[in-house]
Amino acid sequence: MNLFEHIQTVLTKNEKYSKDGKLFKNIIVEAALKLDSELLTLLIKDKTAKKHFFTAVNKILVFDKMKFQRFIANKQFLPDSYTAFKNKIGLTANSKYLTESKEVVLSWAYKDCVLEGGQTKEAQKLKEVFWNKTLAPEQIDRLLEPKVLTNWKRYDKSGVQPVKNISINDNFIIKGNNLLALHSLKKVYKGKIKLIYIDPPYNTGGDGFNYNDSFNHSAWLTFMKNRLDVAKELLNNDGIIYISCDDRENAYLKVLCDEVFGRDNFITNLIWRKKAGGGNDSQDIAVEHEYILAYRKQNNGIYKMPLDEKTLQSYKLKDAKEKTHGKFKTKDLNDPSLSDSSGLHYDVTCPDKVILKGNAHQWKCNEATFNKRLADDRIVFKKIKNKWRVHYKIYVNEEKGELRYDDNGKVVQRGKNLTSILYNTALNKDGSNDIKHIFDGEKPFSYPKPVKLLETLILSATKENDIILDFFAGSGTTAEAVISINANTKSHRKFILVEQMDYIETVTAKRAQIALKNHKLSDGFNFCSLMNFNETIIQEILKVSTKKELIHIYNQLQSNQHIDYSIESFPKEEKLKALEITAIKKVLVAILDKNNLYVSLHEMEDADYKIDTESKLMTRKFYSL
Ligand SMILES: C[S@@+](CC[C@H](N)C(=O)[O-])C[C@H]1O[C@@H](n2cnc3c(N)ncnc32)[C@H](O)[C@@H]1O
Repeated sequence: MNLFEHIQTVLTKNEKYSKDGKLFKNIIVEAALKLDSELLTLLIKDKTAKKHFFTAVNKILVFDKMKFQRFIANKQFLPDSYTAFKNKIGLTANSKYLTESKEVVLSWAYKDCVLEGGQTKEAQKLKEVFWNKTLAPEQIDRLLEPKVLTNWKRYDKSGVQPVKNISINDNFIIKGNNLLALHSLKKVYKGKIKLIYIDPPYNTGGDGFNYNDSFNHSAWLTFMKNRLDVAKELLNNDGIIYISCDDRENAYLKVLCDEVFGRDNFITNLIWRKKAGGGNDSQDIAVEHEYILAYRKQNNGIYKMPLDEKTLQSYKLKDAKEKTHGKFKTKDLNDPSLSDSSGLHYDVTCPDKVILKGNAHQWKCNEATFNKRLADDRIVFKKIKNKWRVHYKIYVNEEKGELRYDDNGKVVQRGKNLTSILYNTALNKDGSNDIKHIFDGEKPFSYPKPVKLLETLILSATKENDIILDFFAGSGTTAEAVISINANTKSHRKFILVEQMDYIETVTAKRAQIALKNHKLSDGFNFCSLMNFNETIIQEILKVSTKKELIHIYNQLQSNQHIDYSIESFPKEEKLKALEITAIKKVLVAILDKNNLYVSLHEMEDADYKIDTESKLMTRKFYSL
């Protein structure tokens, strides 16, 4: 008996893994990957299996699940057993499908790490830590725990006020690192977001990603992967994610997204034309476009595009169907095209029995469809210049995609599909004009996306009450687009924006507030920040006035077990004492700037953090939404 036969005999002992002598290969592999105790017991009890698939480390037996999986996936093993891959064509190595063995994936340095990517000030370049999941599991758990939310405000057309009550139907603008914000949002919004749009830094070297150059690319991929993994959890089953990207990282991002969202969930890579002409200063080819990668979570959540105002106005006529179908327009049924199709020639009898002969006319539909339309009062006979013309009705609601019946009377959607090349959607310069329009000619943000581009994307993937998330909010174009759509369509889409830079208040929130006012919406949004321990302490440092108090704070900081400074060593107490008060304050603030400690929800009652009652109350309200 060879090893394959032997293992087969061992596995048939458990009904879970076999029936009528046939093994369930997929179930076995799944059990192995999950380290299922039943399977492990079965294998460990067998001397041969134990020898082949277990290794002793310090007297502890460790199961080599990868080796076992490879063994089970081997063609020699159970050649006749059921496997989903039976008829698959694909690349193989050592007789295994590469995709099956998961040996072909996009790999890069630090892939399995967590990169906080925490920059809050424009001039600040943090030395980022790649948290390694195996070496620092507790730190990572802590990093990703939901955070305390502070600095609550309610913005609406009448200004900024304290927040009293919040609801899941509110808009939110949240200040803080988006990785931690997403993990916090997960507690409330898991599976509830219909659309995520993101416009991350493109890794061009000058946009906040000035890490050590050789790690630049890999840092960016790690940064993106960490965020996309959690973004996926936030989407609902019809959820869509659109990711803006230029061609520097696009190919890598596509492969990364295939891995995160699944290759089958790739929709397309939209091309957005961002500028027209003026590229002659480029060294070689003037690049006028960038990309928007589109993935679905699971179901097809892309909708037909609504008709524009001009098209809508071309529907002027009414009949008895107006209530359900809306107004209609008519189109000539005569097909002037040269392509001759035999099924499209038939006689049509007009009201005064005049017959339009089939051999002289080609119609746009076949006779059966014509008769159906006639019976359904969709055919209109018009006498133009004393000659009969045959027209058919097109109702606006059908064109909008709201109603349409197939041949079996089933409603199917109709309307215009979004096309993959966004050629005339709006250019970068329109984005600049949009923001200038908000800020009276000033442009407080470079390269905001055009509102029209965002409107197009949002309309293609959301309906009237859906939630839209943008966790690289920048100047808040996404919020303005949601507001504009809500105003134009009387809908109640909601936005959640995350941005970590300080301009979130002066640009992002301000812009959303002005947009609400410009569109005369009575709606508002809640603003809050992930609570950063530093901010509280810095306030305290600035307040105190004696060296004694400062040294006390300094000692407290050093003994705070949670603090993880990225500085090599703390200055000696005596050295600090010798400095002027303002100089000591500067040192302490500088130390704190290196530390990016956000306060976790479970630490909310910890007196060390001196959390105010309002923040506690609102944090509780938020997490119980
Ligand atoms: C390219 S801009 C987005 C512009 C935006 N689409 C607009 O139209 O204004 C990217 C934004 O992501 C923010 N960002 C980058 N890394 C972040 C992080 N880790 N957490 C939160 N925001 C981050 C940057 O501060 C920047 O404002």
